[in-house]
Amino acid sequence: MSIFKKHLFVCTFGKTCAQTDATLIFENLKQNVYAKCDQNEIRVNRAGCLGQCGHGPIMVLYPDNVWYSQVKLTDVNEITNALSNNQIIDRLIYQKENE
Ligand code: FES
Repeated sequence: MSIFKKHLFVCTFGKTCAQTDATLIFENLKQNVYAKCDQNEIRVNRAGCLGQCGHGPIMVLYPDNVWYSQVKLTDVNEITNALSNNQIIDRLIYQKENE
């Protein structure tokens, strides 16, 4: 059993994501999620390279094992609401090439 119900990792300091709005998105997500969600249930952390460079800003949500790519600052509210309502945002799901 995991400690948090949902744990979102945002790549902010990998080589390519660091060149995007990833840090700004992370900071806004963290602030938004902690203002609107139960901090004991939903956690947002920054991460180093998640091994999917060039598709960022990229993030992965556990335990759902859902990846979001090409995330924009304008997606922050929608992601927060989806986390809060236990939903997934289909349009942001990362489609790995060659699969
Ligand atoms: S730099 Fe973000 S996935 Fe590699």
